[in-house]
Amino acid sequence: MSGMTTTNDAVCPAPDVLAAFEGAKGFMPVDEGLALYRAAVDAGALGLPLLEVGTYCGRSTILLADAARRAGVAALTVDHHRGSEEQQPGWDFHDPETVDPVIGLMDTLPTFRRTLHAAGLEEHVVALVGRSPQVARVWGGKLGLVFIDGGHTDEHATADYEGWAPHVVDGGLLVIHDVFPVKHDEWTGQAPYRVYLRALESGAFSEVSACDSLRVLRRTGAGI
Ligand SMILES: C[S@@+](CC[C@H](N)C(=O)[O-])C[C@H]1O[C@@H](n2cnc3c(N)ncnc32)[C@H](O)[C@@H]1O
Repeated sequence: MSGMTTTNDAVCPAPDVLAAFEGAKGFMPVDEGLALYRAAVDAGALGLPLLEVGTYCGRSTILLADAARRAGVAALTVDHHRGSEEQQPGWDFHDPETVDPVIGLMDTLPTFRRTLHAAGLEEHVVALVGRSPQVARVWGGKLGLVFIDGGHTDEHATADYEGWAPHVVDGGLLVIHDVFPVKHDEWTGQAPYRVYLRALESGAFSEVSACDSLRVLRRTGAGI
């Protein structure tokens, strides 16, 4: 099993990559982004793809893509690009710029593509456009890292865990965003926290590090 380099503060993206991350539309704070980046660099040493559930406009994808570039692996990112419940019109996290005026629905794919292009990271990323459980059902490969940052209902967070965590190899990392032991707000809720607890209680994953609401777990046993 590889060492706990996720806590190595010396592992940082290059200034241009960090600037692209900071300038990108999205929800991840910088300190959590750096923790995700360290986890991705750690997991990249396994030589397997790094997968994200919840692309949105590509903010966190930039960091996974740079870590993938360092390791010579691919970053995969899954999203239907229609937004989560809390991102729909009328909700706090809604951004009107993400609505496709022709069909009147959210479409974050164009912004995501522009973001990755501007960061010079397109060639390191495979965008999987679809519903996470459907994509997971057709995915047959092993993964070095799974980052869960998709829908925050119990239905979606549980499906993301059950669909993708089985693909994390021994020594690989499971990273979960928006883990709030105490209720945070109506929409972020505690589904990611319940998934985090389930992963630990399964005996298949052990905690490596925590940064605010970001938790990094390593596979240390079989199953989920
Ligand atoms: C919190 S945002 C992701 C934020 C992103 N990681 C960032 O750093 O800015 C959640 C994303 O998950 C997507 N999503 C929600 N449920 C999904 C599902 N079942 N399948 C695929 N994507 C989903 C939404 O469309 C949304 O773009």
